[in-house]
Amino acid sequence: MRVLSGIQPSGALHIGNYFGALAPQLALQEQGEAFYFIADYHSMTSLRDAGLRRALTRGVALDYLACGLDPAKAVLYRQSDFPEVTELAWLLSTVTPMGLLERAHAYKDKVAQGLSADHGLFAYPVLQAADILIVNPDGVPVGQDQKQHVEMTRDMAGHFNHAYGELFKLPEPLIREEVAVVPGTDGRKMSKSYGNVIPMFASKAQTKKAVMGIVTDSTPVEAPKKWDLPLFQLWSLFASEAERAELRARAESGGLGYGEAKKDLLVRVLDHFAPLRERREAWAARPDDVEDVLAAGVARARAVGGPVLEAARQAAGLGRG
Ligand code: TRP
Repeated sequence: MRVLSGIQPSGALHIGNYFGALAPQLALQEQGEAFYFIADYHSMTSLRDAGLRRALTRGVALDYLACGLDPAKAVLYRQSDFPEVTELAWLLSTVTPMGLLERAHAYKDKVAQGLSADHGLFAYPVLQAADILIVNPDGVPVGQDQKQHVEMTRDMAGHFNHAYGELFKLPEPLIREEVAVVPGTDGRKMSKSYGNVIPMFASKAQTKKAVMGIVTDSTPVEAPKKWDLPLFQLWSLFASEAERAELRARAESGGLGYGEAKKDLLVRVLDHFAPLRERREAWAARPDDVEDVLAAGVARARAVGGPVLEAARQAAGLGRG
């Protein structure tokens, strides 16, 4: 089984990215052939600061390595080092109906949030389809919010196959329902654009500030608490089944204070990320080694993607033949 997934370098990663994307993606490196990449071209649709893009791109590479990406098993690369992707995006764009792109939730949401409606943002799903189809994967591990993009990829693959012959497999979105949505500190979906995140690798003081800021209600300590509060949902991410049952019983019968639950959550967040932070710092101290990982990664990706692109070009009657 071959899988592929990517993350945009558009901000420091938070625990929503970790539980929704990084951890489930990386679990798959044990099961087959895994391709992971940093979607720096995609970040151009929302970020126009070149220096920041470069820093964030390095940051995402470190985040993957910190979270356990094993360069001996999995492939890691920068999207912009893989030019076959943008060429395939053009080929796919010629079989992509405008109506398909007009229905994209992510595009509509971003325009509603005030991003300018430029062509790159509109064509974002075509580039994503090229990212995916260039390696012909079986599955694409993503969060719930990316399901539509994978479905659009399947549509584009189908249109291309219909026009030029069976070239692309239709990849499956691989979504872990139980971690599909991580709530933010204000109860909405955790998202950089809502400013409601608990960062993965912030300082202790910043992490504390975020955890202590999780919204609760005014139920007094002795009174029963509602288990579906964001505080308990977040706490549950860091607990075993048995611990969850125990805390739930305490919360629902009264006597558990929110302050106590927050303090315990803070310890769990810091403990969970401590070994990852150590690994991140070790890689960060060796930037040349990180570049070597990316260079070896893109070489492996291009060895797979080059022939895929060439087959698509031939099928479409491009080049000498
Ligand atoms: N759009 C994805 C996101 O914002 C990032 C992405 C780009 C991606 N290309 C991809 C994810 C290909 C999976 C496969 O999260």
